[in-house]
Amino acid sequence: MNIILLGPPGAGKGTQAKRLETERGMKQVSTGDMLRAEVAAGSEIGKKVKAILESGQLVPDEIMVAMIEKRISQPDCAKGFILDGFPRATSQAIVLDEMLKRKQIAINAVILIDVPREELMKRISERVGDDGSRRSDDTPEVLRSRLEVYDAQTKPILPYYERDGRLKKVDGLQSIDDVGRAIDKILDVAGK
Ligand code: AP5
Ligand code: MG
Repeated sequence: MNIILLGPPGAGKGTQAKRLETERGMKQVSTGDMLRAEVAAGSEIGKKVKAILESGQLVPDEIMVAMIEKRISQPDCAKGFILDGFPRATSQAIVLDEMLKRKQIAINAVILIDVPREELMKRISERVGDDGSRRSDDTPEVLRSRLEVYDAQTKPILPYYERDGRLKKVDGLQSIDDVGRAIDKILDVAGK
């Protein structure tokens, strides 16, 4: 089973993707994590995207599309993947559909984790990584620009997936476990 998790910064995409990875053996494909790993490694891509990540703007499609195509073609994605952070613009959604069609890969569910803005600000301001570190884009200023980018560039994807009835919405204000249960229900229906 392959799914797309959509939602604003701090909605809980990563939290739920990690849970699905543990419980269902699906692979989390987080473009944000992949980009941060490139920056940490000091790779060519990392050098190109560092300032973009720190500003909260989107990395150019050409980099993202190549990265996703390579990643979902790897054997560990064959049993199912969770796209976390991609697509993030209508142009990416269109290219993704073409890519998947070419590879004969189906997406079983597109799930939006819906959370109001005040709660996102609170979650991001409190978030610390597993190693106790903080993300450099989790400052109030950069978060504001990430939220603006979400509204301007990512939200317009929703009608694209709504049109053909693929989009399912989950109330992301519930507890982590309840959001998980709501996602599980959608996946159980989609898997039948
Ligand atoms: P990315 O890493 O994807 O960041 P994001 O979309 O801003 O989302 P976050 O990772 O901040 O939030 P999340 O939804 O994963 O929430 P989490 O589970 O951590 O992208 C970073 C940057 O990379 C972008 O700004 C862009 O520059 C670039 N980029 C990435 N993809 C790109 C693309 N496709 N195209 C172009 N550029 C791209 O949860 C947040 C916190 O809330 C945690 O502390 C968690 O414990 C807590 N929490 C989770 N669920 C709940 C709950 N139900 N109740 C209470 N607390 C909860
Ligand atoms: Mg995340």
